[in-house]
Amino acid sequence: MTRVAVVEGDGIGHEVIPIARDVLALLHPEFDFFPVDVGYSRWEATGCPCADRDIAELKTADAVLFGAVTTPPMKDYQSVVLRIRKALDLYANLRPVKGDGFDIMIVRENTEGLYSGIEEMHADRATTLRVVTRKGTERIAKMAIRLVQERKGHLTVGHKANVLKSDVLFRDICLAEAQSAGVPVNDKFIDALSLDVLRHPAAYDVVVTTNIFGDILSDVASYLVGGLGLVPSANIGDRYALFEPVHGSAPDIAGKNCANPIAAIRSAAMLLGHIGDNDGAERIERAIRDVLVSGICTRDLGGCAGTREFGNAVIKTLAAWNNC
Ligand code: NAI
Ligand code: MG
Repeated sequence: MTRVAVVEGDGIGHEVIPIARDVLALLHPEFDFFPVDVGYSRWEATGCPCADRDIAELKTADAVLFGAVTTPPMKDYQSVVLRIRKALDLYANLRPVKGDGFDIMIVRENTEGLYSGIEEMHADRATTLRVVTRKGTERIAKMAIRLVQERKGHLTVGHKANVLKSDVLFRDICLAEAQSAGVPVNDKFIDALSLDVLRHPAAYDVVVTTNIFGDILSDVASYLVGGLGLVPSANIGDRYALFEPVHGSAPDIAGKNCANPIAAIRSAAMLLGHIGDNDGAERIERAIRDVLVSGICTRDLGGCAGTREFGNAVIKTLAAWNNC
């Protein structure tokens, strides 16, 4: 039996994740879902945003469906999502951005780089160590190359090797891995790439980059498809996997039933793809498309459907196909 840990987290996580869970439950009534409560509201209530036993529980799941957690910019507050990614060694963050005439897969290194967590904060000086290791880069490069081979595409390495020594190592290892695997590869400075991806999205296939650059690039690229409410992600390691929208907890719209649940529903589709149900994953994508084509969409896309109403429309579409 497939056990799925469900982490709503904070903010709009409470609105979009129950819909994604309902979609999974419809297609897979045999799934065993169990909730895990972590995040900022948990910290406010108990003083602890994520305990060791929560991590242990997440490790018992075959997959984690994750909303988003609020990370307040407080000196002593540690990001819960970064902790989980590290604890489960979810080293590859796959962020597909797919639209008319383009299909980009951003592959973000997820455990090191500028999000190393090695930091010092003093009154007049603060430092964060940007860590790039051979081991960390080789495994993310190999993951990106596997995707290039599956997609019969090409690889772009995004970096800032002109100013960062850590990115000289990252770039050189990625290029060498791609060349030895025989996949077409080029590289680009991340700042120029961020503009070029908006101008020429069809020129990109798989883009591999370091932690913070992948984080920023995926928010930028979401512009191509209508914004953050649409882009899902998979966090993959050798043993564990966690699926979450690219967006955060969006406190500005939380509790208003206006968040777009598509990114969360697509994350559920990625979960199904990961456990081998490609047909289910495709059906979810098709149902989202059909509902959008029928004119139902949330406010961020210019419509007036609420989060639940849009979600229910997707579920109704899937249920109708299920009964055929
Ligand atoms: P955000 O992604 O939550 O929101 C950015 C903007 O996009 C906001 O205007 C928001 O309303 C809009 N937006 C986001 N998701 C949407 C959706 N599904 N439908 C319609 N509009 C949507 O990023 P922000 O505001 O920078 O961060 C808010 C909090 O989320 C912070 O505490 C941050 O640390 C946290 N965060 C958590 C993440 C995670 O848990 N993986 C990822 C990113 C941010
Ligand atoms: Mg982000």
